[in-house]
This record gives sequence, C-alpha cells and structure tokens, in this order.
Amino acid sequence: REPAEAPDDDASSISELREAAKGCRRCPLWRDATQTVFGEGPDDAGVVFVGEQPGDQEDLAGKPFVGPAGKVFDAILDDAVVDRQKVYVTNAVKHFKFEPRGKRRIHSKPNAGEVQACRWWLDRELELIKPNLVVALGATAAQSLLGKAVPVTKMRGEVMQREDGLRVFITIHPSFILRIREPADKEAERERFLQDMKAVRRLM
Ligand code: URA
Repeated sequence: REPAEAPDDDASSISELREAAKGCRRCPLWRDATQTVFGEGPDDAGVVFVGEQPGDQEDLAGKPFVGPAGKVFDAILDDAVVDRQKVYVTNAVKHFKFEPRGKRRIHSKPNAGEVQACRWWLDRELELIKPNLVVALGATAAQSLLGKAVPVTKMRGEVMQREDGLRVFITIHPSFILRIREPADKEAERERFLQDMKAVRRLM
C-alpha cells in the first residue's frame, strides 16, 4: 500500500493540494492509516474549522468529521444555523493514529512532531482558501494554528489574531461533549458549544 509519490509543493488549488496529500510521507502516520483524510468544503469558504485528526470512521470514509464527533458537530452547527456545506472542515493532522485493541482501533493523540509535520498542509490550505476566520476545535488545532499551547477551556469563545492577521476563534473539540457521562453536564457543555457556534456565525 505504498502511496505514489506526488509533488506537494507546487499545488495552486485545493484539489491539486488534496491530490498531492494522498502521497504524504512527512511523518510515519501514513503507514498504518487507510488513507489521507484531507479537508472538505468550498475552496473559497469564509470560515475554516480545524479538528485534531481523523478517527476510525473518517479514516475509512476519507472524509473529515463523519463519525460520532462529526454527528455532534453537525447537529450543533445545524442548531446554530451554520451550513456545513458552506464552510471548509479539516484537521491539524491528516492521518488516523491509533492503537489496535482486539478488532478495534483506539484513537491515539498525535504528538508535537506529527502536528508540526502536518502543519505544512494546513498552512497551504489556509493560504489557498484565505478565510476570514479559522475555528480551532480543541487544543491540538489551537496549538497547530497558533504555534503555542492554548488553554482552550479558559480561552474558548475568544478570537486570537496571528501575526499574519488571521483570526483564530478558540473553542473545545466536539468529542469533549461526547465523553461527558452525566446528562445535565453534557447538556450544559452542548449549550456552551452551541453558543460558541452562534458566535462564529456572527463573525463569519
Ligand atoms: N475528530 C477530529 O478531530 N477530526 C475528525 O475528522 C473526526 C474526529
């Protein structure tokens, strides 16, 4: 399953960039993953959402945010009246990293080197799309976009401006909501994320 080498530094459109990313070997994660999960959405989107990395279902489908976290994300975007078809959705890391456990593949967090290696793709996506706003979904995305650790639960709802002028809206990762067991706490966190998505809509 050796991906074909593709030149990756002369892409002049998102579709060329997506094609080049299929053969990415900038870090070792391509070896065990099924495929590169590149960003998806209009290449002139005003808003880009950045997650952490594809999960099991995204790895199989080749599309970002289609699994359990994606379902939560979709439902809340819907409630916030943000049309997912009109925004661009991508990840800080574009290959699924996992530990096999029996027949299951358990998500494992990308390390700083993997995030750094994959930042090459994220930077090019942002250069080509030129969005008005980028939404960092969780700490990994915030770290990749801002080049430093950001306390996301403290900073959520805030916009940070990069030196290049890009505005980055900080919020949590939707899988954080999925992991809360207590129903009242889960509902409260869902509501906070909904408020964040409404704030994003106003900034779009
Ligand atoms: N979690 C992410 O960060 N990205 C996906 O694409 C799916 C789950």
